[in-house]
Amino acid sequence: MGVAALGYVTLNVSDLSAWLTIATKVFGMQPTERPDGAVDLRLDEFHHRFTLYPTGEDSLRSVGWEVASEEELLELVDDLRARGFEVTELDAATRADRKVRLAYRFFEPLLKAETELFYGPLAHNLAFAPTRGIAGYKTKGMGLGHIVFHTADMAKATEFYRDVLGFGVADYIAWDGIDATFFYCNPRHHSLAIMNEFADIKGGTLNHIMIEALSFDDVGYAYDIVRDLNVPLFMDMGKHSNDHMQSFYIRTPSRFCMEYGFGGRLIDENWEIRSYDQPMLFGHRMVG
Ligand SMILES: [Fe+2]
Repeated sequence: MGVAALGYVTLNVSDLSAWLTIATKVFGMQPTERPDGAVDLRLDEFHHRFTLYPTGEDSLRSVGWEVASEEELLELVDDLRARGFEVTELDAATRADRKVRLAYRFFEPLLKAETELFYGPLAHNLAFAPTRGIAGYKTKGMGLGHIVFHTADMAKATEFYRDVLGFGVADYIAWDGIDATFFYCNPRHHSLAIMNEFADIKGGTLNHIMIEALSFDDVGYAYDIVRDLNVPLFMDMGKHSNDHMQSFYIRTPSRFCMEYGFGGRLIDENWEIRSYDQPMLFGHRMVG
């Protein structure tokens, strides 16, 4: 029992047009404006993976975790309620926005995240039509990518995501006062990572979201586009020590970062948990 994949992310944004520039020109995502003014962003067979709500503020609105079956979803909801969480079923209008068959929402206080558990996402009838010529995204069987948060309580957050939502621990990196734990729920090395509070970064802060390209060239082209468009780069191209992702990071108009990666290694039955004392093999120098 547990979640199967990172499904979708919904965001309140203050600068929709800056977001759309990044989404289309850098990542090649396919935008669809909804009647309420929100914009869905597609990057694979799902109807969409991101929704931008132009509310005038910048915050995470919700994070959606996919569960493989209705039975498992209902079991998780029962378990959360037994643990004292207030879990509500999404109404028909919100389910229609999310394009899922059934979904529940609760507030998860350790990451301060409105968390939605769903199953039965709508698959699009038409092929993904990227807005620049890219090979696409590695999502099949592995979800949207990964999402990384800070928390004020690493021990409790680890316990919740491992023992309640069913993630496995992939590995750990501790360096320069930062402590990070990486969690998998499918072959992707991690769909979630949790870091401690650090400097002025408080618990509940969204650190970054990673999406993984099917072609390293697409990441390279994007790296040039980012610099041509003066999109703020946060970390230079590099390769991570634990998941071997080759990537760079930009700062989004909502402050948190997006990581554009390629070549992340996968969890298999022979996986051995390791600890690392630096996040990169090479590169990933901070520039922003
Ligand atoms: Fe990452």
